Amino acid sequence: MPKSADPRVIIGHGDDAGVFRHKNNLLVETVDVITPILDNPYTFGAICAANSVSDIYAMGGIPLTALAILGFATCDFSPSVIKKLLSGAVDKLNEAGACLVGGHSIEDNEFKFGFAVTGVIDKKIILRAAGAKTGDMLILTKQIGTGILTSAVKLGKLKQTALRPVIKSMLMLNKVASKSAVLAGAKAATDITGFGLLGHALNIARSSKVNLVIHNVNVPFMSKMKDFIDLGIVQKGAKNSLNFVSRDVVFPKKFDFTDKMALVDPQTSGGLLVSLPPKGLKKFDRIMKKGGEPYWIIGEVVKGPGKIIIK
Ligand code: CO
Ligand code: CO
Repeated sequence: MPKSADPRVIIGHGDDAGVFRHKNNLLVETVDVITPILDNPYTFGAICAANSVSDIYAMGGIPLTALAILGFATCDFSPSVIKKLLSGAVDKLNEAGACLVGGHSIEDNEFKFGFAVTGVIDKKIILRAAGAKTGDMLILTKQIGTGILTSAVKLGKLKQTALRPVIKSMLMLNKVASKSAVLAGAKAATDITGFGLLGHALNIARSSKVNLVIHNVNVPFMSKMKDFIDLGIVQKGAKNSLNFVSRDVVFPKKFDFTDKMALVDPQTSGGLLVSLPPKGLKKFDRIMKKGGEPYWIIGEVVKGPGKIIIK
């Protein structure tokens, strides 16, 4: 992607969202489109919305407006399905404080749905991929496993009802996590989405020119996800991610294929990975607890050239 020479472009590609200065305001903008991961149109619409605003939260911004992008085969889906999809999305956007102000639909054989989201951000508090510092602790705010578990349901290997906690996790906004990170003094964060924990963590390591140590026992994996990897339920995208990251990740000797695949499982509406100075932990903990949200301390930032060390 060519770099913009316009000085109003504060952040171009490489972070979760772009940042653009207009007079005294900084706009933060992102777009995310996904294919269906479950049957219920209302719930799927809401998950799409949570997934799309997540990049704004990952930067420490506040989402304001959204435009829907919808691709579907008009002969396969009735207007009532689309209505439910949009009402799930609008409810979730409203929860985020954002308004749906329009959108565009296109005839498409493969169903797709997502949003372009615009928000505002304060220059002093931007959470960047390049902001991690040696001595920071690494915090993850959602469990890992949505990719494998939704695939297992699609393939009929797992009952729909078993997906309830997974859906609950995907529906959760990263709003409280973002606020906690910003107020606790974090300078770096990202959301865990298509490239899995390792893919997104590596972006922080490379951009910040530090190494990230991740303690595998402290990574919160959703129950049964490793059983399904053992059964061979692995997405092609995840294998590509593993190839992509392997050069810069040091795995423990006893690590097998399942352990590795779990760390690159593509997430939909995943949590934030926050690089937090230890002195901010108390404040972070207080705000997360007040919001009733969990978090896991999964590692730390150490000196190094931009690699990940799994322990
Ligand atoms: Co992102
Ligand atoms: Co994204």
